[in-house]
Formats: sequence, structure tokens, C-alpha cells
Amino acid sequence: MNIRQATVEDLMAVQNCNLLDLPENYQMKYYLYHALSWPQLSYVAEDDQGKIVGYVLAKMDEEDNSSPHGHITSLSVMRTYRRLGLAEKMMQQSTRQMVEVFGAHYVSLHVRKTNRAAIGLYRDTLKFSVHDIEKKYYADGEDAYAMRLQLKEPV
Ligand code: ACO
Repeated sequence: MNIRQATVEDLMAVQNCNLLDLPENYQMKYYLYHALSWPQLSYVAEDDQGKIVGYVLAKMDEEDNSSPHGHITSLSVMRTYRRLGLAEKMMQQSTRQMVEVFGAHYVSLHVRKTNRAAIGLYRDTLKFSVHDIEKKYYADGEDAYAMRLQLKEPV
């Protein structure tokens, strides 16, 4: 298994993973927007044959300039490659780059309240905490936890 920065050539495979694993899907132009704007922040996991089996799609949030922060748009690992530590490693690499390249103070994300696996990863392994609950955030009416992880102390 190998983890490396995502390239534009990977995006079809990334979109395929996303369609298989998550109900939140995006047009190709949204993947391109991430890869072209913040090429340092998105990662893929590939197997020994070079097949993409997971990704993290990440960006900097441009709305609040007073406190630069990253945002995890989407993360998934294909079913047969789970519990190998791939998501944890991709998240760590992306958030490290948020700090080193863009000076991010924290990273944010949304997760479904019922997504036990992802909440386990974010809260227990990566030490995110719940910042807010966004009612009916998802298209099917489910609430989201808005989670955050402090990356460096604000000056
Ligand atoms: N139940 C409880 N805890 C879990 C689970 C689970 N099913 N999966 C991972 N964890 C926690 C554990 O603490 C685990 O450590 P351990 O294996 O030593 O116990 C730790 O997270 C690290 O797990 P990884 O192996 O790095 O996680 P994995 O590569 O399996 O990917 C993911 C986790 C991405 C949530 C995967 O289950 C998945 O793709 N799910 C479907 C898509 C999804 O829900 N994506 C997140 C949506 S939110 C967003 O995109 C911002």
C-alpha cells in the first residue's frame, strides 16, 4: 500500500471511490477545483498494482481570513481496504500540509451523526471535537456534527 499526493490524473478513480462509498457526490469540476487550487492537500491510497483504493479531498476555507483553516471535503477508503490505517495516515498527511504550506490554525469537517466508523476515526483516533451540530445538514435530513481539530495555537 502507498499513500501519495493526488494528481489530476487520479480524479476519475477518486470520483469512482466516492460514488461507491458515500451518498455525497460531486461533479468532476469540484474535484478539479481542489486539485488545482490546493494540490498539496489531497491524497490517495493505492494498492500494490497502483489501483486507487481511498482518498482524502481537502481544501483551505477561504471565507474566514482572520483564522486560516483547512477543511476536509470528503474521505473514503474502499470496503476491503478498511481498518489498515489508511484513512488515519491520509488525514495526518493532509493536515500536516495545511499547517506547513498554508499556516492553518485548525481543520474542520462535517460528518453524519450516525457514521460510527468516521466518528471513531475523527474523535477517538485523530482527537477532533464536536464544534457544533448542524440540523438537517444532509440532503436526506440527517444532522451533521461539525468537527474541528486545533492544529496550532492562534498567535
Ligand atoms: N468503527 C469504529 N472505529 C473505527 C472504524 C469503525 N468501523 N473504522 C475506523 N475506526 C477508527 C478506529 O479507532 C481505527 O483504529 P483501529 O483500527 O486501530 O481501531 C481508526 O479509526 C483508524 O482507522 P483507519 O483504518 O485509518 O480507517 P479506514 O481506513 O478504515 O477508513 C473510513 C475509515 C474513511 C471512515 C471508512 O470506514 C470509510 O470509507 N467509510 C465510508 C465513507 C465515509 O463514511 N467517509 C467519511 C465521511 S465524512 C467526510 O467525508 C468528511
